Amino acid sequence: MNIKLNDNFDNVKESYLFSEIAKRVNKYSAEHPEAKIIRLGIGDCTLPLTKTVIDAMHKAVDEMGVKETFRGYPPEYGYDFLREAISKYYASNGVDVAADEIFVSDGAKSDCGNIVDILGDNTILIPDPVYPVYMDSNIMSGRKIELISGNQENGFLPMPKGLEVKPYVIYICSPNNPTGATYNKEQLGEWIAFAKKSGSLIIFDSAYEAFIKGDYPHSIYAVEGARECVIEICSFSKMAGFTGTRCSWTVFPKELEVNGKSVQKMWARRQATKFNGVPYVIQRAAEAALSPEGVKEAMANIDYYMSNGKLIGELLKEKGVWFSGGVCSPYIWLKCPNNMKSWDFFDMLLEKVQVVGTPGAGFGDEGEGYFRLTSFGSREATIEAIERLKTIL
Ligand code: MLT
Repeated sequence: MNIKLNDNFDNVKESYLFSEIAKRVNKYSAEHPEAKIIRLGIGDCTLPLTKTVIDAMHKAVDEMGVKETFRGYPPEYGYDFLREAISKYYASNGVDVAADEIFVSDGAKSDCGNIVDILGDNTILIPDPVYPVYMDSNIMSGRKIELISGNQENGFLPMPKGLEVKPYVIYICSPNNPTGATYNKEQLGEWIAFAKKSGSLIIFDSAYEAFIKGDYPHSIYAVEGARECVIEICSFSKMAGFTGTRCSWTVFPKELEVNGKSVQKMWARRQATKFNGVPYVIQRAAEAALSPEGVKEAMANIDYYMSNGKLIGELLKEKGVWFSGGVCSPYIWLKCPNNMKSWDFFDMLLEKVQVVGTPGAGFGDEGEGYFRLTSFGSREATIEAIERLKTIL
């Protein structure tokens, strides 16, 4: 063939982080079929969908089997019932987001990746370490990327102080994946002030907001001025166990404009062309997850996961291993013992105790020497992993 391919793909790593982990684990598993591997790598929920969600899904499935209530293509921006439920969820956190500013989608990952479609050739500012999708999707579209370091000194919460004042597209994830570090209102206020001063846009990933305990904003729109410079992406995946069910949303406030052009309208146009919406049954399930009963059940599951995190944290404290996270986040971010490199520690854990985690280096160069464990395992698996880790830490 003589066509041209997107050569920017030459600049991304050969495999996506979690695919690379799966590849290594599958290889080990094939070579050691007797090994009982405990997977605390990818942040994937293990508790089933809750009763309220399942009841709503069953009801919706039944509606799909009846001529009068059958639904065809869903609206590409989401059914009004779900957009309104999400708007009310914001209101329950004291934040004003109108239903028609909410665009329902099939995953925060999809929207994080697709958002580059509507943005021009800007300088992209990405914290390091962070969720790899921001970096990969911008490399794939040939954008110029600058990194801002998260490290132990700044508590893995890089701030804009010292940055050149020029327009960037800035990615922020809080509570952070992978470090669990969470910005408070003042710190987010500094980012917003910087965005306004520099004419930048912030893409705020709040996929882990439901894990927040204490006085941290659940949405960046709780901070004054955010509506003029932030797109917020959030998800049902970790909040309500929808990793396999797929539903999320992105907020485009009406105030977001560039030279009089509405960013919201551009996204609406993009979605209308490239996306056919989330299935009705799933949107009914998501609506149920935001009902008072649904939220109560989701919080009980989150508490369960957080207790796993606490147990992992206790082990690390006992062993004198530095770590962060596990407080407003399902992730425990630890410093590899004996200055080991992330992938070496990964291989050692896999070979010696058959526990899988995520190498910090996979989230950026600043993650080298760190390692992420998830608290999304079952209690039994987490306790067993702790017993095994005790023998080598
Ligand atoms: C993670 O483990 O970082 C997440 O599960 C990945 C994702 O949300 O796509």
